[in-house]
Amino acid sequence: MHQDIEKILYSSEDLSKLVACISDEIAEDYKGKSPVLIPILKGSVMFFADLVRKLPLDCTFDFMSATSYGSGTESSGNVMITKDITIDIKGKDVIIVEDILDTGNTLFYIKNYLNDKYEPASIRICTLFDKPSRRKKDIKADYSGDEVDDMFIVGYGLDFDENYRDLPYIGVLKPAVYKKTKE
Ligand code: PRP
Repeated sequence: MHQDIEKILYSSEDLSKLVACISDEIAEDYKGKSPVLIPILKGSVMFFADLVRKLPLDCTFDFMSATSYGSGTESSGNVMITKDITIDIKGKDVIIVEDILDTGNTLFYIKNYLNDKYEPASIRICTLFDKPSRRKKDIKADYSGDEVDDMFIVGYGLDFDENYRDLPYIGVLKPAVYKKTKE
């Protein structure tokens, strides 16, 4: 285990099971359809890569990137798209793929943005983790791996200050690590 991690919350095996459950749900709902997956960089990359390989559907995908977190640890309502999609999603069934739904600021903005600009047939939200206790916007996940408490989790794509994304598990960051950065 990495020295900055207090404990492992989800091992690689746990994560595979979460991904398999979500994949089954999506496969059932989209039977006979070819959805377009839109992962939001960068946190969702590991989850997306595992999900899209498990999903028994013909699907296409493109990436989007947005900045939401300001200098602190909470996203602001001021979301900015830093990379837009380039494929045509008009009239298509879109699934936005996220690593975590926290305040909801990011996904609320992105969902509206995609709807207004590209007029897809439908948009659903798929997130690996959900923190409903932190929600500030009226937005819900259609597919969610698990609900997590309000703690600082990293790994499997999730970062603190761009670090720990490469860990193959989800762990709780030692408070000393982020307190140190604030001083
Ligand atoms: C994280 C996460 C979501 C967003 C969730 O992204 O990947 O996009 O914050 O927070 P919210 O619900 O409060 O808006 P971040 O901006 O940290 O970028 P990253 O994916 O590159 O780590």
